[in-house]
Amino acid sequence: MTRATAPGKAILFGEHAVVYGRPAIAVPVTQVRATATVTANQTEGVRLVAPDLAIDTLLDRASAQDQALAAAVRQVQQKARLAQLPDLVITVSSDIPIASGLGSGAAVAAATIRALSRHLELWQLCTDEAVSSLTYEVEKIHHGTPSGIDNTVVAYERPVYFMRQQPQNQIETFYVTRPLRLLIGDTGVHSSTKAVVDDVRHQWQADRERFEALFDGCGRIAAAARLAIEDGDLQEIGRLMAENQQLLQEMTVSSRALERLITAATRAGALGAKLSGAGRGGNVIALVTEEKETAVRDALSTAGARTVLTSVINST
Ligand code: PMV
Repeated sequence: MTRATAPGKAILFGEHAVVYGRPAIAVPVTQVRATATVTANQTEGVRLVAPDLAIDTLLDRASAQDQALAAAVRQVQQKARLAQLPDLVITVSSDIPIASGLGSGAAVAAATIRALSRHLELWQLCTDEAVSSLTYEVEKIHHGTPSGIDNTVVAYERPVYFMRQQPQNQIETFYVTRPLRLLIGDTGVHSSTKAVVDDVRHQWQADRERFEALFDGCGRIAAAARLAIEDGDLQEIGRLMAENQQLLQEMTVSSRALERLITAATRAGALGAKLSGAGRGGNVIALVTEEKETAVRDALSTAGARTVLTSVINST
């Protein structure tokens, strides 16, 4: 049996603007993970099993609903130029909440690609770079025009400073001088990344000047945030989170439920808080000190957060 996992992720700075080539910062959320296992199948074919998603099907018969999982398997098959796969059972499970900005789709794909490549001893496909690039191909099916940040952070499993570029994305790692203690509060509202990204594109097409300025602002904030993270300046990081949230509001990707959680966290003493991911639902992230953690957690729950995760981001 071969097993591989991939973490969830949170975007700290620069969502949406990253689609338009501005830098963004994302971190792995290692408390939640997707896991894929590959074993030999006693009967013919490649069987795909995802109990959480009520999927149990043969690869050849995979429907649109199973498509992401099937697409991950086919990516490996195509890249390795295998005319046929051996008889296998591929089982996937995940405790990353879906459609909430924590990168569950990318993590499921990355774990599947890594487990299958290892099982078939396709070592050239087991590097972080290869897993990231194949995961990106799967992401395109769901999101249309993903920036590439999700697949990068779940495959590399490190904080990344990311810029979408041709012919190759710029991916830099950086030093987290003081650990970042994040509370991740879920509004419980599902949101389609593709729908929100499409809507931002329509708004950008209608008023390019305004949206380019908003994206520039997000890019400047991400660049400044990287320096603040390297300096260990938690106050400044928090301030920049609030500033980024302001711009996301102007892009109309915030929502009443998100604002309620952000206000509650800030009033309870968070250094900064913002939505994370596509917005209009999903999660908020709040930067806290150890002393304020309980107060902010309670405030998030009282304000309606369905779950509150703690994630401490270090350099390792
Ligand atoms: O909602 P998520 O976690 O998939 O994040 C989307 C981030 C965007 O910047 C809005 C889109 C992208 O592809 O980077």
